Amino acid sequence: MTRPLAIAPSILASDFSKLGQEVRDVVEAGADWIHLDVMDGHFVPNITFGPDVIARLRPHTDKIFDTHLMIAPCDPYLEAFARAGSDIITVHAEAGPHLDRSLQAIRNLGRKAGVSLNPSTPESVLEYVLDRLDLILVMTVNPGFGGQKFIHAMVEKTRRIKAMIGDRPIDLQIDGGVTPDTAPLVAAAGANVLVAGSAVFKGGTVESYAGNISAIRTAAETAVS
Ligand code: DX5
Ligand code: ZN
Repeated sequence: MTRPLAIAPSILASDFSKLGQEVRDVVEAGADWIHLDVMDGHFVPNITFGPDVIARLRPHTDKIFDTHLMIAPCDPYLEAFARAGSDIITVHAEAGPHLDRSLQAIRNLGRKAGVSLNPSTPESVLEYVLDRLDLILVMTVNPGFGGQKFIHAMVEKTRRIKAMIGDRPIDLQIDGGVTPDTAPLVAAAGANVLVAGSAVFKGGTVESYAGNISAIRTAAETAVS
């Protein structure tokens, strides 16, 4: 089963002083989803924003809000991120001892549930939660910062996870170091949702965002056609 290709710009690389405008601009430029990187300075060594910022961004677009929680613990905050307008809530497998409980909680809130794996985490952690998942996020950098170098060993991991997914309706997402050069590698391995921060927001104008998104999309499409 082929799932549609989606490009999900991460607003981590945008100008935080005008977030609403940046969301509107990147949607106008062709973004399919908006990727929202939530960091707590504890699970990862950086701090970004929380549910109140997401709630304020919600009226700016109807596009899917794809919330990537890099926080521990995550369970006490799931309801707030659901209420803020997240369509998908992704938690890290490493963020707590009860991944299955977190995924059930997200679905009970009426949201799609995702799990993210750090580069060093083996895909075997997915084995018993596959039927609770709508999305699997393969981190291709260590989470915490934009603009890092893509870790090539994650291409084989992506291929293995694609095989584990089989016919299940699960999106396979890549996050970290996605560019027109690396997008074809992960698309060929089976990924269908590509997060990109610095490669999308470079240039600072709608026109440059459009060119950047289209370059990533074309590169990925060429690899699977
Ligand atoms: C990293 C974040 C990513 C980040 C990607 O922890 O999860 O979403 O914004 O940025 P780039 O595309 O610059 O690697
Ligand atoms: Zn992310």
